[in-house]
Order: sequence, then C-alpha cells, then structure tokens
Amino acid sequence: MKTILITGASSGLGASLALSLAARGHRVWATMRNLEKQEALVLSAKKKNLSITIRQLDVENMESVTQCVADMIATEGRIDVLVNNAGAGFVRTTEQATEEEIRWVMDINFMGVVRCTKAVMPYMRVAKSGHIINISSIGGLVGQPFNEIYCAAKFAVEGYTEAMASYLETGFGIKFSVIEPAGIQSEFAKTVMSQLNSTGGIRQDDYLPLFQQYINRIQSRSSEEIARVYQSPEQVAEVVAGCIDTENPPLRLRTSPWADEFCRFKTAADPTGKLQQAAVIASLL
Ligand SMILES: NC(=O)c1ccc[n+]([C@@H]2O[C@H](COP(=O)([O-])OP(=O)(O)OC[C@H]3O[C@@H](n4cnc5c(N)ncnc54)[C@H](OP(=O)(O)O)[C@@H]3O)[C@@H](O)[C@H]2O)c1
Repeated sequence: MKTILITGASSGLGASLALSLAARGHRVWATMRNLEKQEALVLSAKKKNLSITIRQLDVENMESVTQCVADMIATEGRIDVLVNNAGAGFVRTTEQATEEEIRWVMDINFMGVVRCTKAVMPYMRVAKSGHIINISSIGGLVGQPFNEIYCAAKFAVEGYTEAMASYLETGFGIKFSVIEPAGIQSEFAKTVMSQLNSTGGIRQDDYLPLFQQYINRIQSRSSEEIARVYQSPEQVAEVVAGCIDTENPPLRLRTSPWADEFCRFKTAADPTGKLQQAAVIASLL
C-alpha cells in the first residue's frame, strides 16, 4: 500500500487514476484546484465503496501546493508517490499567442510539475524512497503542428524528469517516470476549444488554410483510427497504476500501441529511456 498524491483529479485521467489506485488498495489524496468540482469523484468513490481523500491544490500557486503537501505529511506521515497530472492544452501559433498565454501554458504544464516536485522532495529525500510520475504526452517527444507552445511545455517536463532521474534514483532511491499518452477522451479538447473561442476564436490569417488542413485531417479519421488514437481515462489510468505498482518502473512509458508507433523514430533505440539514463550516469556520475 502506497500513499499517493494526484494533481488535477477533478476530471479525466486524474479522477480515473484516483479510483483505480484506491481500488488497488493505495491511500489516495486526489487534489483539485476547485473543490466545487469534487462531486463526480465523490459519487464514483462512494458507488465503488472506495476511500479517497480530496483536497484543494492549485499547481499554479506554490502556497497551495506547500500547504496540501504539509497537510498530507501531518496526516499520513509519508508520501510515496506524486502524480503530476494537472495540465491543459493550447492550440495557437507562436505569432498568434500572446506572451501572457505562453506564460500560462508553461506555468500550468511545466512550472506546476516543478512546484509539486519541489514540495515533496524534502520528504522523499529523507525517506530515501519515492516515485514521481509526470503525465507528459506524445507531444513531449514529438512536435506537432499548431501545438508548439504545449509541446514545448511537455518537452520541458520530459527534460526535467530525465535530468532528475539521472541522479536522484542512484543517490536517494527516488524513481521518476514520464507517461506519454496519445489522445485521452476527457475534458481536455473542450477546454482547448473554449480557451481558443474565449480569445477571439480561429484567426482569419495566413495560417488559416494550413490550420484548416490540420483540422480536416484530424476530423477525417475513420472510427477505427479514432479508437486507436483515443483511450478512455480508465485505460490510461490502468497503465499509470501499473507503472506505480511495478518494482522497476520505466523512465518513459507510452500508453498505447498507437502512441508507441507515433513516436517510433524517437524511441526505437531505447523505448523505456533506461539505456540513456544508464549511459548518462556512467559518463557523469
Ligand atoms: N486529453 C488528451 O488528449 C491528453 C493527451 C496526452 C496527455 N494529456 C495530459 O494528461 C493530463 C490529464 O489531462 P486529461 O486528458 O485528463 O484532461 P482534463 O480532463 O482536462 O484534466 C485536466 C485536469 O487538470 C486540472 N487543472 C488545470 N489547471 C489546474 C491548476 N492550476 N491546478 C490544479 N489542477 C489544474 C483540471 O482542473 P479543472 O477542472 O479545475 O480545470 C483537470 O482536473 C494532462 O497533463 C494532459 O496534458 C492529455
């Protein structure tokens, strides 16, 4: 039984993961920035007779992060696993995006991971054990059209995780994993669209024909292709839960055959990232 903190558990993968881990017998702290959104999770947990602790945590606010982690340590006496799941997509070109929007994408997707990691490290370091799981994306490995700001934030998460894994596992027994899903059927796409619409919608500019081509390509996917690209939050949650429960977790983990295939030119030589991790340790430590 592990004591696990999850961020962004109000919907999608975070909520499913909370249920999946509680069902596997773990102590789960499911956190969300807005506690008014807790009802669905509370009801699902009740229906399945699962015990989940729900607390407020906004990954964009260090004070909120520190407070929640301190509360968890005071209550549980430990934190074994942190799942940095909170995140948000963003679809605009660099020219179209404002500096404020770019900072927001980096803040929630990358700085949020750094804040939560910073808050749990003192406890994991002293315990000489722990596992930090960062929910990245295939966009953290492969740049994709009109997604450069989001991809850059997820690339940052990947580099950050890789660098920490290079010394904290050997030195302090703390493990790191990045999870790389393709699509998840969640609130994610709706949030992207409402963010786009609330900031002037699709721009009638030089990018429009190419943007339309991109959207048409996605919309022309057959139902078989859609089924291969998009996983349910429950399916992805099972992969993440498996990564938590395994003795020797991978550094990198794609969550579906489609995700694996999409990233193949980047990952074929070292699918789990463990060979590169060992090579870095061998040459620098
Ligand atoms: N959906 C996909 O296709 C896909 C693909 C690859 C990777 N991912 C990654 O998977 C993770 C989970 O996404 P999802 O698909 O489950 O989408 P989702 O249903 O939109 O969930 C995102 C969660 O992050 C939370 N969040 C946003 N800002 C936050 C903040 N400042 N503090 C704390 N929580 C915050 C949201 O809370 P609110 O309800 O308050 O907004 C929500 O609970 C994300 O890191 C995402 O980048 C998603």
